[in-house]
Amino acid sequence: MKLSKNAEQLLNARYLLKNIDGKVVESPEALFRRVAQCVASAENKDAQTWEDRFYTLLTSLQFLPNSPTLMNAGLPNGQLSACFVLPVEDSLSSIFTTLKDMALIHQSGGGTGYNFSQLRPQGDLVSSSGGVSSGPLAFIKIYDTATEHVRQGGKRRGANMGILNVDHPDIEAFIISKSQGNILQNFNLSVGITDDFMHAVGTGSDWKLINPRTKKVAKIVKATVLWDKIVEQAWATGDPGLIFLDAMNRHNPVPKEGRIQSTNPCGEVPLFDYESCNLGSINLSKIIKIDGEQQRTVDWDKLDEAIAVAMRFLDNIVSINHYLLPQIAKATKNNRKVGLGVMGWAEMLALLNIPYASEEAISLGEKIMHFVRSKSYKASAELAEERGTFPNWEKSIFHPHEPMRNATCNSIAPTGSISVIAGTSYSIEPLYALAYKRVGILGDQTQMEINPVFVDFMQSLGLWTDAVKTEVLDTGGIQALMDIPAHIRKVFQTSLDIHWKYHLKHQQAFQRYTDNAVSKTINLAENASKETVSDIYMTAWKYELKGITIYRDGSKANQVLQACHLN
Ligand code: CDP
Repeated sequence: MKLSKNAEQLLNARYLLKNIDGKVVESPEALFRRVAQCVASAENKDAQTWEDRFYTLLTSLQFLPNSPTLMNAGLPNGQLSACFVLPVEDSLSSIFTTLKDMALIHQSGGGTGYNFSQLRPQGDLVSSSGGVSSGPLAFIKIYDTATEHVRQGGKRRGANMGILNVDHPDIEAFIISKSQGNILQNFNLSVGITDDFMHAVGTGSDWKLINPRTKKVAKIVKATVLWDKIVEQAWATGDPGLIFLDAMNRHNPVPKEGRIQSTNPCGEVPLFDYESCNLGSINLSKIIKIDGEQQRTVDWDKLDEAIAVAMRFLDNIVSINHYLLPQIAKATKNNRKVGLGVMGWAEMLALLNIPYASEEAISLGEKIMHFVRSKSYKASAELAEERGTFPNWEKSIFHPHEPMRNATCNSIAPTGSISVIAGTSYSIEPLYALAYKRVGILGDQTQMEINPVFVDFMQSLGLWTDAVKTEVLDTGGIQALMDIPAHIRKVFQTSLDIHWKYHLKHQQAFQRYTDNAVSKTINLAENASKETVSDIYMTAWKYELKGITIYRDGSKANQVLQACHLN
């Protein structure tokens, strides 16, 4: 296998099996064999053939599953999912049961999301003690502290999503909670937004905050005042993001099971309480062929085949996974949700000589994700024929016309670690920089890496000079090198060079064909204004996105999403 230095180091540190002395006792090939064999054990016949197909798909780096699968498959009680949502009801028993469940999930490498809106507000009556409640924020802090002290299988720290709905009486405190020092670093915070609230912002109306225990109005505020607070804090700290609850529920595949209230930590999977989901990503930078005219082009046949094998792989995991709790086993197996997505999108575009900030890129993005969705739905329908539909199918939007094995098929995950293993660009994000140190993965040992796609490209044009190399190592980009033709400079624009409108258009293009959601960070330059943040959040809602996160360069770091990328 050909792996980059960073990939080798990351695998050594966190994925390859070690003996009790901490010495690595597994090669990368053996890791992929372990994973392929474990996942193929779900097959009733031809298990060896499937194992080999899975192995080939993984070792070619065309597809990788989420980290817990790579870390735990084939181990005793291997927990293979990355994404969970847990309930938080308005009782100490529920709050602390979920805290314990969170710890177990984090220990196994998974991340957890929760909506805290059922908790009575701070200062509200507690009848059992005659005292007053601490409110959701106090409990979020306890979850955060617990997360701090539970490392995921000794490998990384867990991630959380904390949501509070925009009509909760404690919403103002929640919005500003990250401005008070370096707290809640293990949480992404999102305000649960409704269409009604957005209309109230649009018309400048009053907005009611409602006590979830008494259902009585606790306070009336101007919707625009809340909006400005959200924008101001997101501008200053990156948090809160928004979760668009109504958009999420318009696409809920099993509405008869109730409303979805939360997502996993990075937002790409809306889930019911106790549901978990397995993710996997196709590496688009490997899905390119040379056509008859010696031009690079998308290899649709290869993509088709990769999707079919990957869907089977992910569905197998639902069957063989070790579930930490009976409630998780039940909720997950009832819907059998999986999330197949993509990574290496920016590199694919660069290989095809298409600038990220172009309409051509947007329409290719739509075409690719449309293809991924329709082929994964086809694969799920075929699996349904072979193995039966998911148990809740009759309650789902697919009934009676479309037999499906999985209630959802697609998510776009951040691929913070697996894209490093695959040696490609994150998720659907633009190139972050042309040269970078992947700080945070392994501290000082981490190599300075110049993007090999960029180096090849420049070499093929005879443009790879010492001056270019020095500039790239110094600044991470080539935008200041006016001798380089404008089109090439445009193809190699990096995240901060790209206007937010294109960041958002890519998110929209991929969300349009993603039944779950798209995790994306809209990266902004340090001098971006609050009005820009407001525009972005408003446009995200108009685009029917399910969530939105921004990060302004130089604003308070330590955003979990950012940390996910670096972890
Ligand atoms: O690349 P990798 O498979 O490790 O993960 P990712 O695509 O960056 O993140 C996918 C999901 O894994 C996140 O949305 C979280 O649910 C979970 N995750 C986590 O729990 N803790 C982390 N440090 C990173 C990711």
